[in-house]
Amino acid sequence: MGSRTREASAGTPESSDARSASTLCTIGDAWRSTVTSTQSAATTDCASHPPARTPVERSRCARRPRSTWSTGRVTAGTAEDPTAPVVRALRAAGCVFAEDEAALLVAAATSGDAPDRLDALVARRVAGEPLEQILGWAQFAGLRVRVAPTVFVPRRRTELVVREAASRLSPGRVLVDLCCGTGAVGVAVVARVPGVELHAADVDPAAVACARRNVEPVGGHVHEGDLDAPLPADLRGRVDVITANAPYVPTDEVAFMPSEARDHEALVALDGGADGLDLHRRIAALASGWLRPGGHVVVETSERQAPGTAAAFVAHGLTASVVTDDDLDATVVVGTLL
Ligand SMILES: C[S@@+](CC[C@H](N)C(=O)[O-])C[C@H]1O[C@@H](n2cnc3c(N)ncnc32)[C@H](O)[C@@H]1O
Repeated sequence: MGSRTREASAGTPESSDARSASTLCTIGDAWRSTVTSTQSAATTDCASHPPARTPVERSRCARRPRSTWSTGRVTAGTAEDPTAPVVRALRAAGCVFAEDEAALLVAAATSGDAPDRLDALVARRVAGEPLEQILGWAQFAGLRVRVAPTVFVPRRRTELVVREAASRLSPGRVLVDLCCGTGAVGVAVVARVPGVELHAADVDPAAVACARRNVEPVGGHVHEGDLDAPLPADLRGRVDVITANAPYVPTDEVAFMPSEARDHEALVALDGGADGLDLHRRIAALASGWLRPGGHVVVETSERQAPGTAAAFVAHGLTASVVTDDDLDATVVVGTLL
């Protein structure tokens, strides 16, 4: 993979002027495009997103549902081509990969993975709900992760957090995944490094409920509350890695996110405060209270925001390195407690 690491210094922020506003945020697959063009997220989604690898990922970066379109009633179709009416409905609603999505929705309706009938599933998709929330799962880091309505759908770029965290862990070590959402990051790290002691936490009860279904089967623990508040006190000073894909969209720019994020993922999962870095500063401040000496904190950010994230780490006594991956279009800051 094309990862690059550079040491960050709080005193040498990159010029944000030199960077396009369209590179501001990496949280939504389509958002970079919609910042510069609010016309149609779908037509520009994939231009800024890494090549898709699965039908779900292809769909995620290429959908164009319009909530005002109506499918009418969708039935299962003929025995020869059960997906045909679904494809027509999705295509009419602007879904670019209608065939892939139709196959997934038909499979979900017939397998019992999703509780609704096919026509109900298609109606939800046509109304603009993210495919993953309808299916109840997302592909992430080679795993199928459970997803629930309103809970943030794990993005492929977050696999860089997984990679950076996993490379710093070994069996028996302790990982805390703050702002865990579905719990995807922690579960993916444990899949790579079995035997890691995993604690995941989130403030949103819907995310916590979803995370429990992903994290507990791999032996991890899920805690509900504000950042580190719900963590067991006996973890203090013995955490090897803290991961966080915390919200980092500046408040004023949430409105430019695609409808699938804006309307179907909880605001608390998106809004990072005035400059997007409110949570990063809080995580930087709390990290040293939990990490063992030499421990790390791995936080997803954007290329433009990385100097601010790194500066927060340095201000709280951590060293900071910025790691980017062009293939994933991802940036993380890795802080280390010396
Ligand atoms: C961008 S989502 C990322 C979820 C997950 N880490 C992932 O990558 O798929 C951010 C998550 O942070 C949680 N969150 C926001 N503010 C929080 C806070 N103060 N304390 C704990 N969790 C918070 C949200 O509920 C949401 O699940």
